Amino acid sequence: MSSLKAQFITLEGIEGAGKSTQKEALCRLLDANRVPYIETREPGGTPYAESIRELLLSHSDDAPSAKTELLLMFAARAQHLKTKILPALEAGTWVICDRFTDATYAYQGGGRELPLDWIETLETLVQGAKRPDLTLIFDVPVALGLGRAGRRGALDRIESEDLAFFERVRAMYQQIASREADRVVMLDASSDVESVTESMISLLMTRWNLSCRPG
Ligand SMILES: Nc1ncnc2c1ncn2[C@@H]1O[C@H](COP(=O)(O)OP(=O)(O)OP(=O)(O)O)[C@@H](O)[C@H]1O
Ligand SMILES: [Mg+2]
Repeated sequence: MSSLKAQFITLEGIEGAGKSTQKEALCRLLDANRVPYIETREPGGTPYAESIRELLLSHSDDAPSAKTELLLMFAARAQHLKTKILPALEAGTWVICDRFTDATYAYQGGGRELPLDWIETLETLVQGAKRPDLTLIFDVPVALGLGRAGRRGALDRIESEDLAFFERVRAMYQQIASREADRVVMLDASSDVESVTESMISLLMTRWNLSCRPG
């Protein structure tokens, strides 16, 4: 197993990009290399934060304003970080998180067009200097991602936004990837599952100097 400190890894991308699918492949790679890890997600990840997730994603006649949505995202994140993510990392356990603060930049900053400096302020308040060690952004054309996600069933409140919203979300993810090349890797997720997995596994084995491929 690698001698790296416990890594905080986040998976990002629009609906249907393949985050959950590729998370399974990433976990198989860690299993093969006997790396201890937990899987978690945002918004949510703890019972309290999952209650906030429910508030955020459920349809309601009294839907939250964009500002309310932003604050709830960070409220859930504060709880998740303090009670789950940071204790795991401190204990030497890697953390694989399906969405994190880049999603707030993409959805509330890009999609909802809230000022990015509000997000930066809340990021500092909630996280201090803590940032993921590695973020994988799965990039797909909006129509392809939504088409994949739509086959799965009823859409939640955010998934029900229009195409222009998701184009802004995707564009913000692309901006983050180009601005933060050390932390963020963007993968073309438009090909078949196996090809995306293969590119991800090769990249991670090199980056972390792992020796075992998943069986
Ligand atoms: N590369 C791919 N090619 C074709 N289908 C895919 C690919 N990746 C994932 N899928 C399928 O698309 C659907 C959505 O994938 P997945 O749930 O992994 O996306 P996601 O990014 O986690 O979406 P969400 O943000 O909505 O949770 C699933 O049915 C999955 O099997
Ligand atoms: Mg998913």
